Amino acid sequence: MSAQHFDTIIIGAGASGLFCAFQTALFGKSVLVLDHANKAGKKILMSGGGRCNFINTNVGSANFVGENPHFVKSALSRYTSEDFIALVQKHGVAYHEKGRGELFCDNSSKDILNLLLTECQDAGVSIRLNTSITAIHAANTDNNTMPNFTLDVQPKDGKAHSLTCQFLVVATGGLSIPTLGASGFGYQVAQQFGHRIVPTTASLVPFTFTDDTGEMIKSLAGISLDVVAKNARASFALPMLFTHRGLSGPAMLQLSNYWQAGESITINLLPAADVKTLLLTAKKRTPKQRLRTVLADFFPKKLLTAFEAHFWQAHKDTELANIKDETLVSLAETLHAWQIKPAGTEGYRVAEVTRGGVASDDVSGKTMESKLQPNLFFIGEVLDVTGWLGGFNFAWAWASGYACAQSI
Ligand code: FDA
Repeated sequence: MSAQHFDTIIIGAGASGLFCAFQTALFGKSVLVLDHANKAGKKILMSGGGRCNFINTNVGSANFVGENPHFVKSALSRYTSEDFIALVQKHGVAYHEKGRGELFCDNSSKDILNLLLTECQDAGVSIRLNTSITAIHAANTDNNTMPNFTLDVQPKDGKAHSLTCQFLVVATGGLSIPTLGASGFGYQVAQQFGHRIVPTTASLVPFTFTDDTGEMIKSLAGISLDVVAKNARASFALPMLFTHRGLSGPAMLQLSNYWQAGESITINLLPAADVKTLLLTAKKRTPKQRLRTVLADFFPKKLLTAFEAHFWQAHKDTELANIKDETLVSLAETLHAWQIKPAGTEGYRVAEVTRGGVASDDVSGKTMESKLQPNLFFIGEVLDVTGWLGGFNFAWAWASGYACAQSI
């Protein structure tokens, strides 16, 4: 029996795969989407705390991390936030804006998945779930009427068989959250065709600590604080959350995109005040005050007690008049630039994304086609493109899927 043929096979029924599927089918191509998971779009359903932060109104290349910062520009300019918002409106999905241009569904992430599945159905896309790909063979023919790829597949409850296609799109995402179907399969396919993989690491992920800093952080679990978190490469003025495992919240997740193992990070715990002036002025005006009283307006009581034990235990009960100016200046510097070294991160188990992936230098930023293997494409998170928190990773899924579909 000859193998069933499709113009295009897309591996991965996630955000980028489903989006690319219907955009490709709109050109009259036969499209099959394969996924080893039992459900399409599992990450979409989990995203945005169940409300899917499906786009940001202000997407630019500066919101992405990768070896080549220019790689995303072409695709992002051809499928914009406005384009996706128009699609959302066409489907009557109710949404709202949170801070910083983040658009979320009013009701449920299901609305975005249903939008994609409806578009796929209307465009005649076939989707086969519970299907593993066991091998990929390339024919490498110049004759475009011949199938270029043969895929050996194994359905969970069926017989192993082969499929052929002219165009193969790898949309398998990253390694984050293996229980949602994540696998390194896309990287294997890339390597099979000679692509380099930029080392991968969990990103948009909370930091963990093992030293006494970690003990203090744990004791403050549940408290959120507006901070400026930075390292040599990036700086974010956002809330930080103390948790039982370490430091989380938007400030930490964003900074994790720029963090390398072993590096320290610097946190301004009181960006809204000039602590040096505050303490030196208080020393002059109210010399009998304790540090905790001067800082009481700025930190919740529990936080203040923990900071007192951690940062100025020796001067806990000392009146300001009896604390040297240089000690107050040094304390101000510590609160404005608290240097801590994370032991690591919570890893792929909870990370929203994977940093690194298929190196962009061997993939066309215009078409997403491999420069090493004709008719092979990579889209979405499998590439070395990592967006900030705030709808940017979906923005990339849509834009890269669109660019690919236009060129197939
Ligand atoms: P995606 O992961 O969506 O899809 C990959 C598909 O490939 C999956 O269906 C998987 O089963 C399949 N697959 C993997 N290996 C396979 C194999 N060997 N064979 C067959 N199929 C295989 N982003 C954002 O912009 N806004 C947000 O609100 C959030 N929220 C969020 C929450 C959580 C908890 C997570 C984990 C992630 C987010 N993200 C996000 C990130 C966003 O979900 C992510 O970047 C996109 O889904 C990436 O789209 P892709 O299509 O590249 O991969």
